[in-house]
Parts: sequence; C-alpha cells; structure tokens
Amino acid sequence: MFNISAILLVLILGIVAIRGEMNKRTSRLPPGPPGLPLLGNILQLPSQFLYRKLSAWSDRYGPIYTIWMGSQPYLVLGSAAVSADVLDRMSAVTSDRPPMIKPRVFFFKDMILMLQDRTLTWRAQRRSIHASLNIHAATRYNAMQAQEAAYLALGLLQHPEKPFRRQLHRFAASVIFRAVYGGDTIQLLEIDPTKRIEELTEEGMHAVMPQNSVVDIVPFLKPLIQRVKWFRKQADDWFGEMDQEAKRRYDKALPTDVNFLLNLCSKYGITKHQAMWMTMALFMAGQETSDTALCIFGLAMLHHPEAVSTAQRQLDAVCGDRPPTFEDREKLPFVDAIVKETLRWRPGVPLSLPHRASEEFEYRGYVIPAGTVILDNVWSQTRDPAVYKHPESFDPTRFLDDSGTLLPATADTHLDQLGFGHGRRVCAGRDFALNTLFIACAYMLWAFRFEWPVDEEGKEIVCGVDEFQDTSVTVSPREFGVVLKPRKEGLEETLLAAVKG
Ligand code: HEM
Repeated sequence: MFNISAILLVLILGIVAIRGEMNKRTSRLPPGPPGLPLLGNILQLPSQFLYRKLSAWSDRYGPIYTIWMGSQPYLVLGSAAVSADVLDRMSAVTSDRPPMIKPRVFFFKDMILMLQDRTLTWRAQRRSIHASLNIHAATRYNAMQAQEAAYLALGLLQHPEKPFRRQLHRFAASVIFRAVYGGDTIQLLEIDPTKRIEELTEEGMHAVMPQNSVVDIVPFLKPLIQRVKWFRKQADDWFGEMDQEAKRRYDKALPTDVNFLLNLCSKYGITKHQAMWMTMALFMAGQETSDTALCIFGLAMLHHPEAVSTAQRQLDAVCGDRPPTFEDREKLPFVDAIVKETLRWRPGVPLSLPHRASEEFEYRGYVIPAGTVILDNVWSQTRDPAVYKHPESFDPTRFLDDSGTLLPATADTHLDQLGFGHGRRVCAGRDFALNTLFIACAYMLWAFRFEWPVDEEGKEIVCGVDEFQDTSVTVSPREFGVVLKPRKEGLEETLLAAVKG
C-alpha cells in the first residue's frame, strides 16, 4: 500500500515538474536569469534584502524580466516607467494578490485586506477607507496628528534615556490607533495597549515567510492540511488570538469624531467581522511603515546637516518660537521635500507587496499569462538614474523648483510617491501617512539639533547609511543613537502647551 502511494506521489511530482518545464520553454515572458531545471531561480534568491539581488538583475536583464520559483513565473518591474505601465495603466488586470496559501488561507483565513484579491469585499473595504482617508477627508485627523507630534517632541526632550526608535514607534502606533479606534494618546511611560497586536503580527510574519512555508512550494499539500487539524494548529491558534484581539479592540472603539471610519462600514455593506479585520489591517499596515520612515528620516538628518539647516531656516522664518502647524505647510516646502526624499532615498517597503495578473496580457511584445506574480521593485525604481540624478545622494531639492516651491506631483508616474506602491492596490493610507510624517518631521526639525552620540574618547558613534535590517516586509536602519539638543528657549513649556491643545 505504502509503495503504491509513494509511486503515485513520485508520478504526480514528475507530471507537475514536466508540465512546469514545458510552460517555461513555451512561455513568451521576458527573459531573466537562467535557473536550474525544475527549481528555477529558487536557490539564487537570498532570504534577506531580496530587493538588492533583484536590482542587480535589473542592471543586467533590463527593467522587466522573469524569474521562476519552480514552475511559477515572477515578473520583476525595475523602472518607474515600466511599473506605471504595468501596474497603473493595466491595473484592471494586474491588481490581484498571489495565492500565498500559508498566509492567506491558513493564517489570515482570507480576512485581511492586503492579501485579498479584488473581490467585492475588498472593494467595499477600499471604498470605506478611501471615504475616510482620502486627501480631503484625511485632514480631519490633523489636530490629533499635531498633538501627537508635540507629545513626541516632548518625550524626546524629557526622556533622552528612552531610545529614539522606541519613541518613534510609540508615536506611529498612537497616531494610527487613535485614528482607527479613537481614545487618547498612548503614553510613553505606560503599558502599550497595542503590544499584543504587534507580538501577534511579528509571530504571524515569521511563520508566513516564504522559506517557512512548505505548502507554498508544494501547493498540492493544501487539501491535506485543510483536512488534518494537527497540521493547521499553529495557524488556527494564531488566527483565534488575532480574531479575539481584533474584536476586543473593535468593541472598545470610541464613537468619537476621530474614528469616523467605523461609522462608514454599514454604509458600504461591511459586516462586523470584516470591519474588525479591516481596522486591524489599517493598524498593521500603518504602524510599522510610518515608524520605519521616521527612523530613516532620523538617519538621513544625522548624515545631512545641510538639509537640516535649510529646513530649520525655513521653519524659523515661518514659525519663530511657536511650533509648526498644518496651516504653515504651504510655506514649508522644504520639510515636505525632506519627507519625499526620505521615502525615495531608502524606501521602507522596498519590494512593495506582490501583485498578480488576473488575466493574460501583452506588454512590449511579451505575453504575461494569468497567474503571473508581479514584483514591484520600488528599490530599483527609486535608484533609476534616468529619473533621479545621483540617486544615492540625499537631496530634497530634487522635489523643488528653482524658487524652492514643491514641484507638482507627476500624475502619470507619481515619481514623488513610488514608496506607496501602484495601481488599484496603491497604499490606502498614503495621504494620512504623508500628513503624519510632515508634522512629526516639522516638529523634530523645529525643536532640535541632531547630533551623533560620542564614545568615551569623544568619537562619534555613527550608523552607516547602509546598515539596515530586513524584517521581511519592511527594512529599517539598525538601532542607532541620536542626541537631540533643544533649539528654542522654554521648549518644554511650549511643547506642554501644544500637547494640551
Ligand atoms: C510611510 C508609511 C507607509 C508606507 C511607505 C506604505 C507603503 C505601502 C505599500 C508599498 C503598499 C502596497 C501597495 C501595492 O500593493 O501596490 C501599501 C499598502 C497598504 N497600506 Fe500603506 N504604507 C504606509 C502607511 C500606511 C498607513 C498609515 C495606512 C493606514 C492608515 C496604510 C494602509 C495600507 C493598506 C490598507 C494597504 C493595502 C492596500 C491593498 O492591498 O489594497 N499604509 N502601503
């Protein structure tokens, strides 16, 4: 009996492998790096900093090429122009997500918006998020974001012993938590109510990493796992806990003016269970990304005192001794340019999230079959010398005209916002995030001089511009120290008053 099963298994594997090889040979996908028979390029892919390897291949194979994971093709987009064509202009057929069986089916049970295909449920959720977070609606959160930025600066001033990253993390969590669930600032010295969500997110992310997912490499194991409870135990337990946490947070949400979003769910036909997961998705998508961008901002400021000085001259001229506000934004284009350049110079989500072709389509004479996974290599795109002169330099002026005014956004390719992805899947919290980053950076630049800490011999303890760590979706600088010296007389009182509002 065992022998027959083993022979059958080998036969099935053989058929699948031969079919995969035939597909590769007859495909009209753009060429890419040669791989091994059956395995494709799997063994050439590093488990960390994958975007760097894919960028190196872009230099060799051009802005659009294919790699293979076994018999599954992955189309890699390495220039802003190609990405705009494929993911923006052809978004009607390039906006699904890959099957990602372990994360989607077993861990999230298809409840999380980021991993859903363009289903009716996904559309309803995107519509309700758009209604509350579009560029106009997002301004309703400005007062809360400004208060949080004041509290961030106050924390940095009063508690220099608390690591910079820890304080940014609290700020990012508090802003998104309050926008979604209402309530007050998460205090720096108190227990963080978002801790459990973050622990669960980290646990989930680790488990769903491609190298930890056998079923995504051998998809025909899916029915077996679905039938045998024991195989699913880790995923089921994780989902159970996350589901409870999502419900607890949702039920406790305050019907304040700020958490406007929840009121929209019934209008768009979103059930309570879906709304619980949608709000959780917003928190998960918004917290780490914003925290990462701010950390990269800190690193950039330490390496570029000239950018800091220019921004501070503008802030002093506009605000003097009072803190910056959203009303000052038009007169502070250099701060917005710093935010845009931070997101370009070291994009925190360098490979965006993968898309998938829902139908076959043609592009530049190639034929891309339905089911092809599409990797939006934002890292390559933001280093394209044809678009960004001296791409490795941190230069906010690239987003300004000769008079120092912000250049208009390029509607067609949105070159100033590549870090937020593309097409119909473009980041749902983009405008909200840009507001958060603007006010936080404006406050920190207005309030402090940025200096490296020094060791016992007075030597600066520097973190290099490439000393990054990869945490699967986001990449961010390794932990580094920063000394923030107040620039204003009576800064503490001014910040205390700004926090009170
Ligand atoms: C600096 C901050 C942020 C960055 C760099 C960022 C980046 C991204 C990227 C690259 C994607 C994938 C886009 C694609 O697939 O083409 C994405 C998706 C998403 N982001 Fe953001 N994001 C940020 C902040 C936020 C915030 C604050 C929120 C919520 C308020 C948010 C909510 C979402 C959601 C819900 C999605 C999934 C969209 C979908 O699958 O349809 N993000 N983000």
